[in-house]
Amino acid sequence: MNKPGRNDECWCGNGKKYKKCHIDFDERIEEFKAQGHIVPDHDIIKNPEQIEKIKESAVINIAVLDYVAEHITAGISTAEINRWVEDITGKMGGIPAPLNYQGFPKSVCTSINNEVCHGIPSEDIILKDGDIINVDVSTNLNGYFSDSSRMFCIGNVSEEKKRLVNAAKESVYKGLEQVKPWGFLGDMGQAVNDYIKSMGYSVVREVGGHGIGLEFHEDPWVSYVSKKGTEMLLVPGMIFTIEPMINMGKHDIYVDEKNGWTIYTKDGSMSAQWEIQVLVTQDGYEIISY
Ligand code: MF3
Ligand code: CO
Repeated sequence: MNKPGRNDECWCGNGKKYKKCHIDFDERIEEFKAQGHIVPDHDIIKNPEQIEKIKESAVINIAVLDYVAEHITAGISTAEINRWVEDITGKMGGIPAPLNYQGFPKSVCTSINNEVCHGIPSEDIILKDGDIINVDVSTNLNGYFSDSSRMFCIGNVSEEKKRLVNAAKESVYKGLEQVKPWGFLGDMGQAVNDYIKSMGYSVVREVGGHGIGLEFHEDPWVSYVSKKGTEMLLVPGMIFTIEPMINMGKHDIYVDEKNGWTIYTKDGSMSAQWEIQVLVTQDGYEIISY
């Protein structure tokens, strides 16, 4: 941690002297570090101006998903969803963050049924009655990032699939309840995992959530198979995603060899995911995007 001198300007950028600003905050973090905990660097702690910009980005992200929710239906292609995302994001002044991100070829991820995540929109993939689909939207507005995803049930979906979709959503909010300053990411992870286990489902291990705001993907990496009291210390100003991927069968996955992106359940079972973007506040949390 790079600490300013007592009379120097605080690292947070509000112009106050360090001794009148984040000095006690940093000491508290250092106590946790001395106890062996993983602690956040200053560069993932957002100041109020940055938080405002990130929220403006999230306004677009939420609007895009609201549009998808109103228009998604059997018979459309996932390329159509990609066009909606590009149109609305562009009209609102943003850029879809997935496009060209590490070579990702489209502007949104659309993952159907046994696809866990990173499904690539295509004219050839047509939504059918009974499908479940995750639409994962991420926005870059003036260099500030937002990210969230929702599940959609197409037409008449089986009770079995609906139960999975609902449990995946519920698990996010079970995790969210555990988010508070001076707690740990693992408190959230364990709450997700305990709930999913109690429902008879499994949580994907290799793919998780992430810090976000000034970059699309920042520290920390966020696991949902973690234990209470472990993983990174949470402090006000951190922003990260809660986005567990829930499989109806076993947790094992594999990556599509042909496109190098799309992840599937190994046993072919159905998979569901909801994603929210969360800010750690002085007394708990705030949902930034959903
Ligand atoms: N929205 C996904 C996430 O939650 C992004 C995957 S990377 C992409 O991290 F390139 F596929 F978009
Ligand atoms: Co994400």
